[in-house]
Amino acid sequence: MRLLLGTKNRGKIAEIRAILEEVPDIELLTVREQPFTDVPEDGETFEENARKKARAISQETGLAVLAEDSGLEVAALGGAPGVRSARFAGETKDDRANIAKLLELLTGVTDRRARFRCVAVLHFPDGREWIGEGTLDGQIALAPRGSAGFGYDPVFIPEGYEHTLAELGPQIKNQISHRRRALQALIAAIRGSSPRERAR
Ligand code: IMP
Repeated sequence: MRLLLGTKNRGKIAEIRAILEEVPDIELLTVREQPFTDVPEDGETFEENARKKARAISQETGLAVLAEDSGLEVAALGGAPGVRSARFAGETKDDRANIAKLLELLTGVTDRRARFRCVAVLHFPDGREWIGEGTLDGQIALAPRGSAGFGYDPVFIPEGYEHTLAELGPQIKNQISHRRRALQALIAAIRGSSPRERAR
């Protein structure tokens, strides 16, 4: 199966490539081989944004497109930053500024529960579409630690671990991440191939 990855985020590209390497018969194209136009992420949910990206890029390129939308939901902030995760501290999508804002908002807050969520959508030019969702539960650290990964990885401690994702590194992250779980669910849906997964 030949798929175009519908993201320009280098961190996501590296992770998705590593995760899908284990799946036979997938040839992954990225924006380097097949350029595409940015799709505004203005939906209310991860699913809406992921579908929008997959459909628009598939229409533009005529290829099967795998797109995902993901973000961080913090319990004490009522689920924020959620779909606004990339732009939490402003339109420039600055990871450091986002982390600084998050830690500032959580100053003195003892409930530090958080969850990463990812929704992945695979859209074919003939209209067939599948979806998979994955989450990763954890806690927000008191200060950033580690240098691997991207986004909020330096402040996210997954459940069952004492280190942040940025300290744990890609091998562990890619085994447990919301992105891996979403892609696994997507692959299971394709293999089960239920019509329920057709475009809604
Ligand atoms: P978008 O899906 O391009 O809107 O961006 C999602 C944003 O959520 C990223 O820019 C990060 O801020 C955050 N995010 C999503 N997944 C991860 C992850 O695996 N690690 C750290 N941050 C993430």
